[in-house]
Amino acid sequence: MRIVSGIQPTGNLHLGNYLGAIRNWVAMQNDTVTTGGECFFFLADLHAISMPHDPATLSAGTREMVAALVACGIDPERSTLFNQTQVPEHPQLQWLLNGTARMGWLSRMTQFKDKAGKNRDSVSVALFTYPVLQAADVLLYQATHVPVGEDQKQHLELARDIAQKFNNDFCPEDKPLFTLPEPIIPPAAARIMSLRDGSSKMSKSDPSDMSRINLVDDADTIMNKVKKAKTDPEPLPSEKDGLEARPEARNLVGIYAAMAGTTVEQVLADFGGKGFGAFKPALGELLVEKLAPINARFVELKQDRDALDAILRKGAEKARAAAAPTLAATYDALGLVRG
Ligand code: TYM
Repeated sequence: MRIVSGIQPTGNLHLGNYLGAIRNWVAMQNDTVTTGGECFFFLADLHAISMPHDPATLSAGTREMVAALVACGIDPERSTLFNQTQVPEHPQLQWLLNGTARMGWLSRMTQFKDKAGKNRDSVSVALFTYPVLQAADVLLYQATHVPVGEDQKQHLELARDIAQKFNNDFCPEDKPLFTLPEPIIPPAAARIMSLRDGSSKMSKSDPSDMSRINLVDDADTIMNKVKKAKTDPEPLPSEKDGLEARPEARNLVGIYAAMAGTTVEQVLADFGGKGFGAFKPALGELLVEKLAPINARFVELKQDRDALDAILRKGAEKARAAAAPTLAATYDALGLVRG
């Protein structure tokens, strides 16, 4: 098992990242004791330049994200934790895969369509080719499993298409070069929605900080954001079906279930018939209780910049060693002379 996944170091780690992906990273890392697998987790800083960004914020955000991931339970001794910039094999492989990826495939990416909107001509080329870098990120390590939230599923399908076409076009039938990666999406909480709008996902790029719970928010901030979360006037239903046409209620109940480690059915058994006046304080307290230890550890870790840089340096060394054979084999398969 080779487990690979990444996160952009723009903005704070939020509840969607945590429940959709990071919690799974930690679980998979901890399972490697029995599965014998290897984990590679990285900060997708090269992806972050596909959108307008502030350089100082990006470098500060990169170190903060290392602290946040370690605070969540990623152990740099057990997992290889690094940032893309220090592993130039990522953009090198991307260039090689650009020859295989098709314009039509990239044009169908919903994230590109969402982010570009009506401004297709003025967004960066990097925003368009971004999924090819993402394919390189996982194919470089021969990833077998990629733990992600629902929104990354399409990008992973593209990575599989690129791998398949490259194997068909350039490798003998019995010796495919790239492993086809399997997305691992949590059965619940794969798509946490904004607290202000139940139809859009919780996201770092939402201009309103009230739309998300950041893992570094203090107790008062969390209680206040939950209190102000958009809801409807009805009490909670007792059955799951009753949440169908109520996206905000469904989101909050889903968050409660995921944080408490229980099912939506159980949450509705406890809170069905009660109004949000009773449910919201309970949800706020649950979030505060679960996030407080992460928060405290994060505050401590982020102060030691040298220690964070050392984690990244060591991680990059291990990642480069793991990446080298696949990159070399890709050059060879394409007939590029490495000397
Ligand atoms: P990013 O930085 O947007 O998000 C990191 C992870 O968090 C998940 N996620 C969510 N899950 C549930 N609900 C939400 N509201 C929510 N928001 C984010 C994402 O699915 C993701 O798993 N392109 C990627 C980073 C990346 C990557 C990769 C991932 C680059 N290369 C290779 C996997 C493999 C991204 O921007 O994720």
